[in-house]
Amino acid sequence: MRFAVLASGNGSNFEAIATAWEQKQIPGELALVFANHPEAYVLERAAQHQIPHFSFTVKESGGKEAYEKALLHLLQEQKIDFVILAGYLRILGKEIIEAFPERILNIHPSLLPSFPGLHGIQDAFNYGVKVTGVTVHFVDCGLDTGPIIAQEVVPISPEDTLATLEAKIHQVEHQLYPRIIGECLEKENHS
Ligand code: GRF
Repeated sequence: MRFAVLASGNGSNFEAIATAWEQKQIPGELALVFANHPEAYVLERAAQHQIPHFSFTVKESGGKEAYEKALLHLLQEQKIDFVILAGYLRILGKEIIEAFPERILNIHPSLLPSFPGLHGIQDAFNYGVKVTGVTVHFVDCGLDTGPIIAQEVVPISPEDTLATLEAKIHQVEHQLYPRIIGECLEKENHS
C-alpha cells in the first residue's frame, strides 16, 4: 500500500502521521506529500522527513479542471493506493474520488455532522456547545461528509479559550488520525 498525504498549510497532522509511520505504527509506504500552495509549511516538514513532495496551484494548472487532472495524474503515476487528507483546504473533484473508492480519508476538527467547513473549532466554541471533538471519515463529493470511521469527544470547560480548545483538539487529532490510518491500511493489506 502506497499512501499520499494532501495538505494545504501547517502540516502538524502530517508530522504526526510521518512520525507514526517511521515508528512502524502505520504499514505501507508514505510515498508522497502534495500541497496546493508552494509555500505550505507541510512541504518543509516533508523534506525534513525525506518524503517526496510536490506542489502546484490551481492557477498554475490553468483552472480547476486541469488542476484536478494533474493531481489525479500525479497520484496514478506515483502508484498511490490510498489518499490521506490532512488540512487539505479544497473539495476533491469527482474523478479523484471515484478513482479511490473508500480509499480517501479526511480529519475534521468537530463532531460531524456538526460544524463542517473551514472553522469547525471556532464555530463549536462560539456556539457554546459543551462537547466537541474530532472526526475521521471517508471522503465523498460533499463538504466534510462521507461515512464516519471514528470520532473522539473533547469536552469544552468554562475555562477554555479558543486557543486552549484548539490545542486540545490538535492533540487529539495527532493521536487519533495516525491510529485510524494504521487500522485502515492494515485492513486493506488483509483484504
Ligand atoms: C486540522 O485541524 C484538521 O482537522 C483540519 O485542518 C487542520 C490541519 O492542521 N482538516 P495541520 O495543517 O495538520 O496542522
